[in-house]
Amino acid sequence: MQAIRVHEQGGPDVLRLDEVTPPEPGPGDVLVRVHAAGINPPDWYARSGFSTIPPDLRPPIRLPFTPGSDLSGVVTAIGAGVTRWRPGDEVLGMVRFGQIGNGGGGRTYAEFTTSPADDLVRKPSHVDHATAAGLPMAGLTAYQFLVDRIGLKPGATILVNGAAGGVGHLAVQLAQHLGARVIAVASGRHQQFLRDLGADQVVDYTTTDVTTAARDVDHVLDCVGGPNGHRFLAVVRNGGTINPVFFGEYHRDRAADLGITVDGGQVHTDHDQLETLAGLLADGHLRVALDGVYPLADAAAAHTRAERGHLQGKLVLTTTTRVPPAID
Ligand SMILES: NC(=O)c1ccc[n+]([C@@H]2O[C@H](COP(=O)([O-])OP(=O)(O)OC[C@H]3O[C@@H](n4cnc5c(N)ncnc54)[C@H](OP(=O)(O)O)[C@@H]3O)[C@@H](O)[C@H]2O)c1
Repeated sequence: MQAIRVHEQGGPDVLRLDEVTPPEPGPGDVLVRVHAAGINPPDWYARSGFSTIPPDLRPPIRLPFTPGSDLSGVVTAIGAGVTRWRPGDEVLGMVRFGQIGNGGGGRTYAEFTTSPADDLVRKPSHVDHATAAGLPMAGLTAYQFLVDRIGLKPGATILVNGAAGGVGHLAVQLAQHLGARVIAVASGRHQQFLRDLGADQVVDYTTTDVTTAARDVDHVLDCVGGPNGHRFLAVVRNGGTINPVFFGEYHRDRAADLGITVDGGQVHTDHDQLETLAGLLADGHLRVALDGVYPLADAAAAHTRAERGHLQGKLVLTTTTRVPPAID
């Protein structure tokens, strides 16, 4: 089968299309014919050596590795003890995210991969594989921040920074679905997109200082991070929260003085939550926007696009431009 492999960490060009032996499902695993693999920032952090992650938090890497955690595909074989799935089932999932030693993911940039049975949920039948592959990590991140961490209540006001990206555009829709008032912050070209997704107010950060556009909000979901994260202290009310999805400088002592809680965390696989998200996708409450769909062989071009930034929705690789050898 074909798989993308990283033999040495570096720029997008280190993503090589290799011919490799297909994996076999161990106990509790299934073999999945991957139709589409979603691209997430951790994939390119791992490829490039985690230079954006603080040194003490960088996971160890075993080379070569196949990147990728998100997939949509079809189960082709099941390992011992698996009762949840049968060959032919269409599934989506975030596979082995955070697993040490393999670039932190489930080797989804490949024509086949194995996955723990519980990392997968049924793909809605009328949703195409590319769209489904964009859901898992970004959707789980948005869900776990809004529901588990923030406990978002109807009527609350939440500002989503980086609102047009993978996590942000799903967070805008989920927050709106949960009954919150949503202020979306993004660059100018995303304004109509975000209104169409249900944002009540859209702020173009390239022309407007966010601290002049919003005040006394209950929560800030910051999907960007960086050295200026603390500017949101002027935007949140006493008793509110700033929830960083990425590393940033939030002046935590000053936040505490202002009665603002700063609370971030790491996404994790959750079967029930992913099933809920797939249901919302199926019934049209969530829409996964695709910024671009690339053949597996063009993974380097897709990573180049990802690193250029300003994404509107998700980037996805598809593996269906050629028919791989049958495996069962
Ligand atoms: N904590 C976790 O478990 C977890 C899980 C998933 C992702 N993450 C992290 O969360 C971050 C977002 O992930 P993602 O997949 O959503 O990334 P993404 O798809 O690349 O989206 C990032 C978005 O941020 C916008 N942006 C860039 N600079 C901005 C600024 N100064 N102000 C406002 N918006 C800005 C970009 O578009 P415009 O500039 O054109 O508006 C883009 O739409 C990444 O750093 C990722 O590593 C963390």
